Amino acid sequence: MGTGASRNADGGLHGGEEREESLDQAGGQLYVSLKMENYKKKGDLIPHVYGSVPLVGSWDSSKALSMERESTSMWELSFVVPPNHETLDFKFLLKPQNGYTPCIVEEGPNRQLIGGTLQGDARLALFKLDNEEVLEYRVLIKADRVSPFDLAASWRAFQDNLRPSTVRGIPDVSINAVPETGHENGSSASLELDLEHYVVPAPPTSANSGLVYAANLAENPRSLTFAGGCCDRTATIMEMEVAIPDSSKVYSGSGTVESKSVGTFSPLQKQDNHRGLFVDRGVGSPRMVKSSRSAAFSFELKLGSQNKNSMPAAAGAVAAAAIADQMLGPKEDRHLALVLVGLPARGKTFTAVKLTRYLRWLGHDTKHFNVGKYRRLKHGTNQSADFFRADNPEGMEARNEVAALAMDDMIAWMQEGGQVGIFDATNSSRSRRNMLMKMAEGNCKIIFLETICNDERIIERNIRLKIQQSPDYAEEPDFEAGLRDFITRLANYEKVYEPVDEGSYIKMIDMASGHGGQIQVNNISGYLPGRIVFFLVNTHLTPRPILLTRHGESRDNVRGRIGGDSVLSDTGEIYMKKLANFVEKRLKNERTASIWTSTLQRTILTASPIVGFPKIQWRALDEINAGVCDGMTYEEIKKNMPEEYESRKKDKLRYRYPRGESYLDVIQRLEPVIIELERQRAPVVVISHQAVLRALYAYFADRPLKEIPHIEVPLHTIIEIKMGVTGVQEKRYKLMD
Ligand code: F6P
Repeated sequence: MGTGASRNADGGLHGGEEREESLDQAGGQLYVSLKMENYKKKGDLIPHVYGSVPLVGSWDSSKALSMERESTSMWELSFVVPPNHETLDFKFLLKPQNGYTPCIVEEGPNRQLIGGTLQGDARLALFKLDNEEVLEYRVLIKADRVSPFDLAASWRAFQDNLRPSTVRGIPDVSINAVPETGHENGSSASLELDLEHYVVPAPPTSANSGLVYAANLAENPRSLTFAGGCCDRTATIMEMEVAIPDSSKVYSGSGTVESKSVGTFSPLQKQDNHRGLFVDRGVGSPRMVKSSRSAAFSFELKLGSQNKNSMPAAAGAVAAAAIADQMLGPKEDRHLALVLVGLPARGKTFTAVKLTRYLRWLGHDTKHFNVGKYRRLKHGTNQSADFFRADNPEGMEARNEVAALAMDDMIAWMQEGGQVGIFDATNSSRSRRNMLMKMAEGNCKIIFLETICNDERIIERNIRLKIQQSPDYAEEPDFEAGLRDFITRLANYEKVYEPVDEGSYIKMIDMASGHGGQIQVNNISGYLPGRIVFFLVNTHLTPRPILLTRHGESRDNVRGRIGGDSVLSDTGEIYMKKLANFVEKRLKNERTASIWTSTLQRTILTASPIVGFPKIQWRALDEINAGVCDGMTYEEIKKNMPEEYESRKKDKLRYRYPRGESYLDVIQRLEPVIIELERQRAPVVVISHQAVLRALYAYFADRPLKEIPHIEVPLHTIIEIKMGVTGVQEKRYKLMD
């Protein structure tokens, strides 16, 4: 029997521990790398290896295996030792390049490599040249036991490199000509039919409930929630928790300090009372970094969502920023209130909904509090314009009361761990804003977000939408009467409107159209406010479709292998043609559009027959990186890496493949894609992959983070997202059975 097989061995290793089991029994094979190093340039002599079965199979120097040049001084030969051949007999030899002069075989006895360990003192290989000069090479031998899957992966990499990708060399951006006539593919006839023929029902989400009045989806008053009257529309998305050591102190709505026990503790904390910081490495293998500071925080990797004092379910930048801005800054900075300001019909609720969706998707625990909803629940839906007069003391009191109620609820929610509250009301007088600032003192940081619109056409459109959609006018059968009332209400507000010039604020002036406009910021700093400003600068209301689709079925899909970079299957190729046909028909009336793909060939190939539109390859659209599992089937992972398999099953959102990515990582890298999709004014076709499309779709459909890894995004189906003034709507087309 040989010696320890899985240890690295170089030329200096002698013997070693007895191997207790053969390589075969150990379930792997030996991967051996032989290296020779010599700094004296002898470019005309090529190092070779020859020897017994199974290395070469013969002591015939003409059959010796050539070593590859790794650098100017280093040569290498690597190979896998087949099972049952743990002992290798071999020698190094130098072969002259010209082939005429004889080979020079190294001095000394044969070398023996047993179970990955070189026998004897063999650090050097000495070669005697004709002129008696002795050439000395340093010998390095490395042996590792590798699993059949690693072998398969390297074999695949080898094949991929040997067979150059069909799409290699395509630049990041390309544009091709419009087709001259028709399509050559045999499938075009099947798309002569109306596109509606391919429509399939979309799953019920808020993305296809675009006609629901957006304010209705905001938070319900707590008094009603606790009475069991309402339920929370959105699942809580807090996934990763930071327990704050002094969290036993919370602030009441009126600003006084109470001692109440909030916050939860992980089993880990209960056991050893560690205070430390888990480095964000996904779920597979959390690592704890102990902090010497008593005020350090500990992340709990908890699955439950009832946690308090949370930080966002987040990876990368969001998690880092949360630590820096939320946890280490002043206490009130840990919670952010975005207080909207503006006259009615200025798009405040629309902005609130969009921001809520974006921040939640990024992993920030965010809620939208709409004071109008509170008012309707407390005072009914049919208040006339008089109710909104500044010289109507009863109306004023009632309105201030519901605003205070909503603010109280928001602060209470923040004390339980909520991070960003979006406070949606006109807040158009300084006195109202002063009241809110007082309530926020010591509890949260306020940023006013004022929307100003001077475009009469946009105001008129918003007013019309309001009469059609707002529950305030649901019982008014006469549209014109509703319109007159609303215009009077607006005038009442205008009389007392005081634009913001106090505190921290973001002013959006005529930004709705997406053309020009102005954004003013005052006293804004920090990661989150910065991201919010960036988002607001880039969003607009111009309606345009976004088409999301996975690539056509790939050969790896057929084999059930994850990741990889394979080409399309025959079925995938049919979809590729059908998709081109679909896109041509769907976008025929558009002046322009763009096609975005990942950098993997299955998406680039899927886009290849689409003509006439620029194509852009995004690295950010590449499939989730499965790390060491890339190229394996789920069955193989389950069998060979059961722990990894189980960890992923337990928490697919945060599980990070070893040397790969988690879904949270994918979301982080998709943020620029979302911003760009928001910014684009023309249609975009996104051809990407399952995990990536789950994350993108979740943004538009406002699906909670924890659902993302389980969203169905079937092959050969197009999800059309329509972004416009009434929100987001969805339509699905299934091109193939
Ligand atoms: O199987 C196709 C695929 O795109 C894989 O390449 C990828 O790893 C997987 O889907 C992502 O889906 P899930 O997260 O459910 O494994």
